[in-house]
Amino acid sequence: MTELRRQDVPLAQAAEEITYRLQHGGIFLTTCTKDGKPNTMTIGWGGVGCFFNKPMVFVPVRTSRYTFHLLNESGEFTLSVPLHDMKTQLAFAGTMSGRDVDKFIDHGLTATQSLGVAAPIIQECELHLECRVVASPALTPDVVVKPMVDRWYPDSDMHTLFFGEIIHCYYTK
Ligand SMILES: Cc1cc2nc3c(=O)[nH]c(=O)nc-3n(C[C@H](O)[C@H](O)[C@H](O)COP(=O)(O)O)c2cc1C
Repeated sequence: MTELRRQDVPLAQAAEEITYRLQHGGIFLTTCTKDGKPNTMTIGWGGVGCFFNKPMVFVPVRTSRYTFHLLNESGEFTLSVPLHDMKTQLAFAGTMSGRDVDKFIDHGLTATQSLGVAAPIIQECELHLECRVVASPALTPDVVVKPMVDRWYPDSDMHTLFFGEIIHCYYTK
């Protein structure tokens, strides 16, 4: 793992970048096993704001994802935001499961140590958030309006909303 230069970034600035990137290709959500083996997946939904009077992100992760298991096990994650074109890596991380492949081998993704959580950041990205899960409510069909259930959950693979308190937020160079 390589040491990078890190520069704190105001949350409002990070929120703007994240909101844009979520809607334009996605960002990386990275977790790790108890033994420290990293996994990452692409997310295209989510947001940044304030909750419990704390700077917070929320990320929706479907039950079927390996990441869902790792989030529940570790209670920590990072978001790494590419500010340049990483379409190929986002497509790879967003279609392959960490149950089947090590996404950090041979696909242009490098795991680098975070400051305050066990989950690493992705070295190729420029903006990073380190987060600790403080709530994880499951979306169930009875709390989602029927048109959305029909549209997004035909196979009942529901999302859980992971609320992550932001511990660190920085650019890397
Ligand atoms: C652009 C894009 C956005 C995605 N957004 C989400 C998301 O917000 N939530 C989710 O659960 N899966 C999302 N996915 C799907 C996961 O990234 C995908 O299922 C991934 O293979 C899961 O990896 P894992 O099993 O290693 O956790 C998205 C995929 C792509 C390509």
